[in-house]
Amino acid sequence: MGTRGLILGIESSCDETAAAVVERGARTLSSVVASQIATHARYGGVVPELASREHLRAIVPVVRAALAQAGIALVDLDAIAVTSGPGLAGALLVGITYAKALAYANGLPLIAVNHLEGHIHAVLLNEREAMEHGIGNVVSQVSKARPGAPGAPNNDVNMNEQPALALVVSGGHTHLYLARPTASAWTYKLIGRTLDDAAGEAYDKVAKLLGLGYPGGPWIDALALHGNARTVPFAFSQIKTKVHLAGKTPRTKAARTAPIANLDPRFLFSFSGIKTAVLRYVELHNLRPEAESRREALFTGPDAPAHPTVEDALAQCDPQTLDLIASFQYAVVGDLMKKTFAAAESLGARRILVTGGVAANRSLRARFTAEAARRNLHVAFPTLALSTDNAAMIAAAAWPKLLAKDFADSGLSADPSLALGR
Ligand code: KG4
Ligand code: ZN
Repeated sequence: MGTRGLILGIESSCDETAAAVVERGARTLSSVVASQIATHARYGGVVPELASREHLRAIVPVVRAALAQAGIALVDLDAIAVTSGPGLAGALLVGITYAKALAYANGLPLIAVNHLEGHIHAVLLNEREAMEHGIGNVVSQVSKARPGAPGAPNNDVNMNEQPALALVVSGGHTHLYLARPTASAWTYKLIGRTLDDAAGEAYDKVAKLLGLGYPGGPWIDALALHGNARTVPFAFSQIKTKVHLAGKTPRTKAARTAPIANLDPRFLFSFSGIKTAVLRYVELHNLRPEAESRREALFTGPDAPAHPTVEDALAQCDPQTLDLIASFQYAVVGDLMKKTFAAAESLGARRILVTGGVAANRSLRARFTAEAARRNLHVAFPTLALSTDNAAMIAAAAWPKLLAKDFADSGLSADPSLALGR
């Protein structure tokens, strides 16, 4: 057993097999991610059976690469951390089983980490790294408020240790938490979440509908820059509490991972409506044939490029489609912003963390940063590499648990709908 506070993190909850070594939750020695995008792209979404098989193939080489890149051996480790949920059952099991076996064989403690807590710690890890290197808040976008102005973020305070409102926004989740550091661990209170699709899921479904690639977020992010976001006024209607409080079961997996009773309806999200609105627009304006030929030209046809670029996609999009894409994104980001800032205000949180795959979005980062500056709040995002799924965030989230000796027992199993906080 090591003495340096080294944790090997393992993540296999969805379509990325990842391993990383992080020192004391504050310094990434290695972070290896084997993406399965190529496997799932042709189906336009993650196929669970294929995901498990790919994880099985990748897990050993990925863990070996993470140890090699960190320049350490298993004996140098202090613990092994693994994502125990939420996620795909079969995919999670691959990581958990391997982590258990490694921990047992090497006499190391095993730490179970909630994937959503991992996403939150991606931002905290970046901030600690920035502080360790004495270069201030490189990844945090601190508002430009005058120092000392009422409500201005106090940069003398270690923001890393302040309570924060965290928006976890990815392909599987759109959840708002109040995250608080305590003496021994972080605690989380669920503030809001989606009732149906996650924001990233809406990005993926709209991209698929328009004949773009998988995952859809990066394509829409890039193409939206070329459209007029004010063209189609997509609107999010106010969510009614009665529907879910009447005891209805939420329809999607994302929605089932956390209870909804007692949540303020102002902080609930719903992204299935906008997906349908885009579909209606496409049908009304007869854009389907064009989407089909775009899919063929970019991905499925005999002349499709091996690796289609944004320029290739741009050449296949007319102004009407680009305007539709930009308008969709404008509406989604606007809704995320409105509810997140309203929740921060209502809770008196002066610090906001935005994390998960959709946090990689350029428009989201720019608009959250501008709004935070306007309100004298502090907002932080992970680096792009740590926004999407990775294992450094799992190893970082495990550090306070190692200090608190919060270890998993040998009965640890996958919990596909594991909730975070209450
Ligand atoms: O965090 P992540 O890698 O996996 C989950 O836990 O779900 O998030 C993946 C999601 C996908 O839906 C993908 O389309 C979206 O994040 N995404 C983006 C961007 N990059 C990835 N969405 C919008 N803009 C992006 N640049
Ligand atoms: Zn994730």
